[in-house]
Amino acid sequence: MTPVCRRMRPEEAEALAALLAAAYGSPRFGPTVARLSRMPDAAIHVLEADGALRAAAAVVDYGRVAYLGIVGTDPAMQGRGFGRRIVEAALAPVPADRVILLDASPSGAPLYEKLGFVDVDASVVLEAKAPVEAPSVPGLAPMTEADLPAVAAYDSAVFGADRTTGLTALFREHPAGVVCRRDGRVIGYGLRHPDRVGPVLAEDQETAVALVAALSALAPAGPMTITVPSSHAALLDHLRRREVPELRRLRHMRRGGDRHPSDRGRIAAMASFHLG
Ligand SMILES: CC(C)(COP(=O)(O)OP(=O)(O)OC[C@H]1O[C@@H](n2cnc3c(N)ncnc32)[C@H](O)[C@@H]1OP(=O)(O)O)[C@@H](O)C(=O)NCCC(=O)NCCS
Repeated sequence: MTPVCRRMRPEEAEALAALLAAAYGSPRFGPTVARLSRMPDAAIHVLEADGALRAAAAVVDYGRVAYLGIVGTDPAMQGRGFGRRIVEAALAPVPADRVILLDASPSGAPLYEKLGFVDVDASVVLEAKAPVEAPSVPGLAPMTEADLPAVAAYDSAVFGADRTTGLTALFREHPAGVVCRRDGRVIGYGLRHPDRVGPVLAEDQETAVALVAALSALAPAGPMTITVPSSHAALLDHLRRREVPELRRLRHMRRGGDRHPSDRGRIAAMASFHLG
Protein backbone atom coordinates (compact mmCIF):
# COMPACT_ATOMS: atom_id res chain seq x y z
CA MET A 1 0.00 0.00 0.00
CA THR A 2 1.26 3.52 -0.80
CA PRO A 3 2.25 5.41 2.34
CA VAL A 4 -0.07 8.28 3.26
CA CYS A 5 0.89 11.30 5.38
CA ARG A 6 -1.94 12.98 7.31
CA ARG A 7 -2.85 14.57 10.66
CA MET A 8 -3.00 12.21 13.62
CA ARG A 9 -6.49 11.21 14.75
CA PRO A 10 -7.28 11.52 18.50
CA GLU A 11 -7.82 7.77 18.85
CA GLU A 12 -4.27 7.14 17.55
CA ALA A 13 -2.52 8.79 20.51
CA GLU A 14 -1.62 5.48 22.14
CA ALA A 15 -0.33 3.93 18.89
CA LEU A 16 1.77 7.04 18.27
CA ALA A 17 3.27 6.94 21.78
CA ALA A 18 4.22 3.29 21.16
CA LEU A 19 5.79 4.14 17.77
CA LEU A 20 7.87 6.93 19.30
CA ALA A 21 8.90 4.72 22.23
CA ALA A 22 10.21 2.15 19.74
CA ALA A 23 11.96 4.79 17.58
CA TYR A 24 13.66 6.54 20.51
CA GLY A 25 14.12 3.50 22.75
CA SER A 26 12.44 5.37 25.61
CA PRO A 27 8.99 4.65 27.05
CA ARG A 28 7.87 8.13 28.08
CA PHE A 29 6.00 9.59 25.10
CA GLY A 30 2.39 9.38 26.39
CA PRO A 31 2.43 12.79 28.14
CA THR A 32 4.21 14.43 25.17
CA VAL A 33 1.61 13.20 22.68
CA ALA A 34 -1.23 14.22 25.03
CA ARG A 35 0.27 17.70 25.51
CA LEU A 36 0.82 18.31 21.79
CA SER A 37 -2.69 17.00 21.00
CA ARG A 38 -4.22 19.60 23.32
CA MET A 39 -2.19 22.58 22.08
CA PRO A 40 -4.12 24.60 19.45
CA ASP A 41 -0.88 25.71 17.78
CA ALA A 42 0.57 22.18 17.49
CA ALA A 43 0.01 19.74 14.63
CA ILE A 44 1.03 16.08 14.75
CA HIS A 45 1.50 14.37 11.38
CA VAL A 46 1.70 10.61 10.90
CA LEU A 47 2.68 8.38 8.01
CA GLU A 48 0.48 5.34 7.57
CA ALA A 49 1.50 2.32 5.47
CA ASP A 50 -0.04 -1.16 5.37
CA GLY A 51 -2.65 -0.12 7.92
CA ALA A 52 -0.20 0.94 10.65
CA LEU A 53 1.52 4.14 11.80
CA ARG A 54 5.14 4.03 10.60
CA ALA A 55 6.47 7.55 11.16
CA ALA A 56 5.53 10.80 12.87
CA ALA A 57 6.56 14.44 13.27
CA ALA A 58 5.02 17.41 15.08
CA VAL A 59 5.27 21.14 14.55
CA VAL A 60 4.38 23.79 17.12
CA ASP A 61 3.80 27.05 15.26
CA TYR A 62 4.46 29.92 17.68
CA GLY A 63 4.05 32.62 15.08
CA ARG A 64 7.55 33.88 14.20
CA VAL A 65 9.04 30.53 15.18
CA ALA A 66 7.95 26.96 14.47
CA TYR A 67 9.49 24.05 16.39
CA LEU A 68 9.83 20.61 14.80
CA GLY A 69 9.88 17.65 17.18
CA ILE A 70 8.98 14.00 17.87
CA VAL A 71 10.37 12.94 14.48
CA GLY A 72 10.52 9.16 14.45
CA THR A 73 10.20 6.16 12.14
CA ASP A 74 9.31 2.60 13.19
CA PRO A 75 12.77 0.96 13.58
CA ALA A 76 11.74 -1.90 11.26
CA MET A 77 10.83 0.63 8.54
CA GLN A 78 13.80 3.01 8.58
CA GLY A 79 15.84 3.84 5.49
CA ARG A 80 12.82 3.81 3.13
CA GLY A 81 12.29 7.55 2.92
CA PHE A 82 9.50 7.65 5.54
CA GLY A 83 11.40 10.06 7.77
CA ARG A 84 11.91 12.51 4.95
CA ARG A 85 8.29 12.26 3.81
CA ILE A 86 6.80 12.83 7.24
CA VAL A 87 9.08 15.80 7.97
CA GLU A 88 8.18 17.36 4.61
CA ALA A 89 4.46 16.74 5.30
CA ALA A 90 4.71 18.29 8.78
CA LEU A 91 6.53 21.37 7.44
CA ALA A 92 4.33 21.85 4.35
CA PRO A 93 1.56 23.84 6.12
CA VAL A 94 4.04 26.09 7.99
CA PRO A 95 3.98 29.64 6.55
CA ALA A 96 7.14 30.57 4.64
CA ASP A 97 8.09 33.44 6.99
CA ARG A 98 8.66 31.16 10.01
CA VAL A 99 12.09 30.37 11.38
CA ILE A 100 12.01 26.60 11.93
CA LEU A 101 14.03 25.24 14.86
CA LEU A 102 14.83 21.70 15.97
CA ASP A 103 17.31 19.65 17.98
CA ALA A 104 18.82 16.87 15.91
CA SER A 105 19.88 13.46 17.16
CA PRO A 106 22.75 11.74 15.30
CA SER A 107 20.23 9.71 13.25
CA GLY A 108 18.07 12.76 12.43
CA ALA A 109 20.86 15.23 11.52
CA PRO A 110 21.63 13.92 8.00
CA LEU A 111 17.96 14.26 7.07
CA TYR A 112 17.76 17.85 8.35
CA GLU A 113 20.96 18.84 6.57
CA LYS A 114 19.42 17.61 3.31
CA LEU A 115 16.33 19.72 4.03
CA GLY A 116 18.40 22.89 4.42
CA PHE A 117 18.81 23.15 8.20
CA VAL A 118 22.07 24.66 9.51
CA ASP A 119 23.79 24.31 12.89
CA VAL A 120 23.30 26.96 15.58
CA ASP A 121 24.92 25.42 18.66
CA ALA A 122 24.45 22.29 20.74
CA SER A 123 21.71 21.36 23.19
CA VAL A 124 23.46 19.56 26.03
CA VAL A 125 21.44 17.05 28.08
CA LEU A 126 22.71 16.53 31.65
CA GLU A 127 21.29 14.50 34.49
CA ALA A 128 21.41 15.62 38.12
CA LYS A 129 20.93 12.81 40.62
CA ALA A 130 20.35 15.26 43.48
CA PRO A 131 19.69 18.99 44.01
CA VAL A 132 22.34 21.27 42.48
CA GLU A 133 23.72 23.74 45.01
CA ALA A 134 24.27 27.41 44.22
CA PRO A 135 24.08 30.77 46.07
CA SER A 136 20.57 32.24 46.10
CA VAL A 137 19.70 35.67 44.70
CA PRO A 138 17.11 38.23 45.87
CA GLY A 139 13.61 38.16 44.42
CA LEU A 140 13.01 34.40 44.03
CA ALA A 141 9.49 33.18 44.78
CA PRO A 142 7.43 30.06 44.04
CA MET A 143 5.53 30.49 40.78
CA THR A 144 1.73 30.43 40.71
CA GLU A 145 -0.85 30.38 37.93
CA ALA A 146 -1.23 34.17 38.41
CA ASP A 147 2.42 34.61 37.32
CA LEU A 148 1.86 32.94 33.94
CA PRO A 149 1.03 36.08 31.87
CA ALA A 150 4.12 38.01 33.12
CA VAL A 151 6.31 34.92 32.79
CA ALA A 152 5.05 34.22 29.25
CA ALA A 153 5.70 37.86 28.26
CA TYR A 154 9.28 37.65 29.58
CA ASP A 155 9.76 34.27 27.87
CA SER A 156 8.53 35.70 24.58
CA ALA A 157 11.12 38.52 24.69
CA VAL A 158 13.97 36.03 25.17
CA PHE A 159 12.72 33.08 23.11
CA GLY A 160 11.58 35.29 20.24
CA ALA A 161 7.98 34.06 19.99
CA ASP A 162 4.93 33.64 22.22
CA ARG A 163 5.06 30.20 23.93
CA THR A 164 2.03 30.82 26.19
CA THR A 165 0.23 27.62 25.15
CA GLY A 166 3.21 25.35 25.77
CA LEU A 167 4.23 26.99 29.06
CA THR A 168 0.64 26.92 30.34
CA ALA A 169 0.31 23.24 29.40
CA LEU A 170 3.56 22.37 31.19
CA PHE A 171 2.69 24.36 34.32
CA ARG A 172 -0.82 22.90 34.59
CA GLU A 173 0.51 19.34 34.28
CA HIS A 174 2.90 19.92 37.17
CA PRO A 175 2.46 23.32 38.85
CA ALA A 176 5.99 23.77 40.16
CA GLY A 177 8.15 26.70 39.23
CA VAL A 178 10.17 29.64 40.52
CA VAL A 179 9.98 33.24 39.33
CA CYS A 180 12.52 35.99 39.99
CA ARG A 181 11.39 39.62 40.11
CA ARG A 182 13.39 42.76 40.69
CA ASP A 183 11.64 46.13 41.12
CA GLY A 184 8.40 44.31 40.20
CA ARG A 185 9.77 43.16 36.84
CA VAL A 186 10.30 39.49 35.89
CA ILE A 187 14.03 38.93 35.31
CA GLY A 188 13.94 35.15 35.22
CA TYR A 189 11.81 32.08 35.78
CA GLY A 190 11.94 28.33 35.56
CA LEU A 191 9.64 25.33 35.62
CA ARG A 192 10.14 21.93 37.21
CA HIS A 193 8.67 18.61 36.09
CA PRO A 194 9.11 15.48 38.21
CA ASP A 195 12.03 14.27 36.09
CA ARG A 196 13.13 17.53 34.42
CA VAL A 197 14.23 21.11 35.09
CA GLY A 198 13.26 23.53 32.34
CA PRO A 199 12.61 25.88 30.78
CA VAL A 200 14.86 28.27 32.71
CA LEU A 201 15.41 31.79 31.33
CA ALA A 202 17.17 34.62 33.15
CA GLU A 203 18.73 38.03 32.59
CA ASP A 204 22.07 37.20 34.22
CA GLN A 205 24.16 34.16 35.02
CA GLU A 206 23.79 34.34 38.82
CA THR A 207 19.99 34.33 38.52
CA ALA A 208 20.07 31.45 36.02
CA VAL A 209 22.22 29.32 38.30
CA ALA A 210 20.15 30.23 41.39
CA LEU A 211 16.92 29.33 39.57
CA VAL A 212 18.30 25.92 38.57
CA ALA A 213 19.36 25.31 42.17
CA ALA A 214 15.95 26.31 43.54
CA LEU A 215 14.08 24.20 40.98
CA SER A 216 16.29 21.17 41.56
CA ALA A 217 15.52 21.38 45.28
CA LEU A 218 11.76 21.00 44.67
CA ALA A 219 10.22 17.53 45.09
CA PRO A 220 10.85 14.88 43.89
CA ALA A 221 14.55 14.89 44.80
CA GLY A 222 15.88 13.30 41.58
CA PRO A 223 17.11 12.18 39.16
CA MET A 224 16.24 15.03 36.78
CA THR A 225 17.45 16.01 33.34
CA ILE A 226 18.29 19.54 32.22
CA THR A 227 19.00 20.54 28.62
CA VAL A 228 21.35 23.52 28.42
CA PRO A 229 22.19 25.41 25.22
CA SER A 230 25.98 25.29 24.74
CA SER A 231 25.74 29.11 24.38
CA HIS A 232 24.98 29.28 28.12
CA ALA A 233 28.55 28.58 29.19
CA ALA A 234 28.04 29.82 32.76
CA LEU A 235 25.43 27.21 33.65
CA LEU A 236 27.33 24.42 31.89
CA ASP A 237 30.48 25.35 33.85
CA HIS A 238 28.53 25.40 37.10
CA LEU A 239 26.98 21.99 36.45
CA ARG A 240 30.34 20.49 35.45
CA ARG A 241 31.99 21.83 38.61
CA ARG A 242 29.19 20.14 40.59
CA GLU A 243 29.97 16.92 38.66
CA VAL A 244 26.54 16.74 37.00
CA PRO A 245 27.21 14.30 34.15
CA GLU A 246 26.47 15.01 30.50
CA LEU A 247 24.23 12.36 28.88
CA ARG A 248 24.27 13.51 25.25
CA ARG A 249 24.39 16.47 22.89
CA LEU A 250 21.94 17.30 20.13
CA ARG A 251 22.61 19.66 17.25
CA HIS A 252 20.40 22.73 17.57
CA MET A 253 19.49 23.63 13.99
CA ARG A 254 17.63 26.40 12.18
CA ARG A 255 16.09 26.93 8.78
CA GLY A 256 14.88 30.31 7.54
CA GLY A 257 15.38 33.85 8.79
CA ASP A 258 18.69 35.69 8.70
CA ARG A 259 19.40 35.14 12.39
CA HIS A 260 18.30 32.99 15.30
CA PRO A 261 15.12 34.42 16.90
CA SER A 262 16.12 33.54 20.49
CA ASP A 263 18.76 34.93 22.81
CA ARG A 264 20.30 31.52 23.56
CA GLY A 265 22.73 33.12 26.03
CA ARG A 266 19.73 33.91 28.28
CA ILE A 267 18.14 30.45 27.86
CA ALA A 268 19.69 28.39 30.64
CA ALA A 269 17.49 25.34 30.03
CA MET A 270 15.13 24.32 27.27
CA ALA A 271 11.51 23.30 27.95
CA SER A 272 11.77 20.19 25.79
CA PHE A 273 12.73 19.07 22.30
CA HIS A 274 9.18 19.65 21.05
CA LEU A 275 8.46 23.00 22.76
CA GLY A 276 11.89 24.59 22.38
C1 LIG B 1 15.70 10.07 12.07
C2 LIG B 1 14.72 9.06 11.53
C3 LIG B 1 13.31 9.60 11.77
C4 LIG B 1 14.96 8.89 10.03
O1 LIG B 1 13.93 8.07 9.56
P1 LIG B 1 14.04 7.23 8.20
O2 LIG B 1 12.63 6.84 7.86
O3 LIG B 1 15.03 6.16 8.32
O4 LIG B 1 14.59 8.36 7.22
P2 LIG B 1 14.68 8.32 5.64
O5 LIG B 1 14.67 6.89 5.17
O6 LIG B 1 13.65 9.24 5.09
O7 LIG B 1 16.11 8.94 5.42
C5 LIG B 1 16.26 10.32 5.46
C6 LIG B 1 17.46 10.80 4.70
O8 LIG B 1 18.59 10.76 5.56
C7 LIG B 1 19.60 9.94 4.99
N1 LIG B 1 20.23 9.26 6.09
C8 LIG B 1 19.64 8.51 7.03
N2 LIG B 1 20.57 8.08 7.91
C9 LIG B 1 21.76 8.55 7.46
C10 LIG B 1 23.09 8.45 7.94
N3 LIG B 1 23.40 7.75 9.05
N4 LIG B 1 24.07 9.09 7.26
C11 LIG B 1 23.79 9.80 6.14
N5 LIG B 1 22.53 9.94 5.66
C12 LIG B 1 21.55 9.31 6.31
C13 LIG B 1 18.89 9.01 4.06
O9 LIG B 1 19.72 8.57 3.04
C14 LIG B 1 17.78 9.90 3.52
O10 LIG B 1 18.27 10.75 2.50
P3 LIG B 1 17.53 10.80 1.07
O11 LIG B 1 16.12 11.22 1.33
O12 LIG B 1 18.32 11.80 0.30
O13 LIG B 1 17.65 9.39 0.55
C15 LIG B 1 14.89 7.68 12.19
O14 LIG B 1 16.25 7.27 12.06
C16 LIG B 1 14.51 7.61 13.66
O15 LIG B 1 13.35 7.41 13.99
N6 LIG B 1 15.52 7.74 14.56
C17 LIG B 1 15.30 7.58 15.99
C18 LIG B 1 14.57 8.75 16.59
C19 LIG B 1 15.30 10.03 16.31
O16 LIG B 1 16.47 10.18 16.68
N7 LIG B 1 14.61 10.97 15.66
C20 LIG B 1 15.16 12.22 15.22
C21 LIG B 1 15.14 13.19 16.30
S1 LIG B 1 15.86 14.68 15.75
